Amino acid sequence: MKYLTTSHEDLRGRTVLLRVDMNCPIKDGRIHGKRRIIEAAENLQYLKESRAVVITHQGRVGNDEYVELDGHADILSANCGRPVRYVRDVMGDAAIDAIRSMKNGDIILLDNLRFYAEENYDYKSNADGASSMVVRRLSPHLDACVLDAFPCAHRRHPSITGFAYAGVDAYAGVITGRELTNLSRIMSIAKAPHVVVFGGSKIDDRLYAMDRLLNGGRADHILLTGQVGCLFLYAQARLDASMVSKEITSNHGLVKRAHILMDKYPGKLHTPVDVAVNTGDGRRMDVDVRFARGFTIGDDAGPKNMQIHDIGPNTVEFYSKWISSAGTVFISGPAGRFEHECFAIGTRSILQAAADSAATTIISGGHLTTALANMGLTDKINHVSTAGGALVLYMTGAVLPMVEALNWRQKDEMCVMRT
Ligand code: 3PG
Repeated sequence: MKYLTTSHEDLRGRTVLLRVDMNCPIKDGRIHGKRRIIEAAENLQYLKESRAVVITHQGRVGNDEYVELDGHADILSANCGRPVRYVRDVMGDAAIDAIRSMKNGDIILLDNLRFYAEENYDYKSNADGASSMVVRRLSPHLDACVLDAFPCAHRRHPSITGFAYAGVDAYAGVITGRELTNLSRIMSIAKAPHVVVFGGSKIDDRLYAMDRLLNGGRADHILLTGQVGCLFLYAQARLDASMVSKEITSNHGLVKRAHILMDKYPGKLHTPVDVAVNTGDGRRMDVDVRFARGFTIGDDAGPKNMQIHDIGPNTVEFYSKWISSAGTVFISGPAGRFEHECFAIGTRSILQAAADSAATTIISGGHLTTALANMGLTDKINHVSTAGGALVLYMTGAVLPMVEALNWRQKDEMCVMRT
């Protein structure tokens, strides 16, 4: 695989597409946690004499994080020390004209890739992306691409695999190079017992990963927090429907999959013993899960917003013991709504337990890495990655589609050179 680790002679004066992942947490329309943009900017120091066309996705269709990229362009510019022109288009005439009028050293940022339908589907095979519209329209104007969207490397989206399979010369970016090198070193020294702590809200991805991790012997115990923890507690009939999200109660498939996993791996999946509910006025109340069903506050038995926002203190203690006696600890996804001070206790305590543990530790995902940095604990962890789902999939032993695409392009190049 070719890495963008030095200024490549062959990229000078050329038009280079840089696919990064600047998908950031957005609150009230503003970017919170710029780490991914700062990391993405590192690539631009190796493309000073190229014409860099930067692309990224942001959010998911319909959620609060699905926004335009003006703010991203400003932060990228501030971190690479050069102007970044934001073009409100991805593959129409405005984008093509902007690319064609670039000079060496110019940087443009095209619009949010997910504004186009095809970037929201996981294609069946990596090669399918090559026939997508975005690849067909942009490729003729490109000399090379740098694939560095490591947090999105598990998605079979056109911009992740399509350019390489369409024959565009492909390099792995700075973050991808660093991740793959560090992870292969860490995996070679990882010792049992392997303890995985899963939280966050991407339940579907987590269920898939749990099966692969436990089946492949890459996890001995999985400690559940966040939305995925709520799913299992709900499946165990320990919570009322009003305490968990609609995604859980309206999707019977998720509950069924949780049951299948509990049956298949007895004693391997651990659920919270207590949870913190939002009392409705933003305050926290810890509830033992044995008494969670039918739980009400005070005399008023009327419906209140009693959704679960964190794990409780007894769960923290219980999980911390697993973490301190582990050989390897892998944590992905926050334990609760850590952006609210009173529901950050679970996430912070789990991170503190990892920092104090003698185990080899890996912390994954934008939210956790931000929390870790705010706590000043980043240096106490063996590997910290802004990638969430992609890293989880990597840990299961799967080859990520973006990495497959880079390897495929490399082999293809060798074949062309030989013939
Ligand atoms: C992430 O934040 O995990 C990546 O950017 C992928 O985002 P997605 O789960 O919306 O595809």
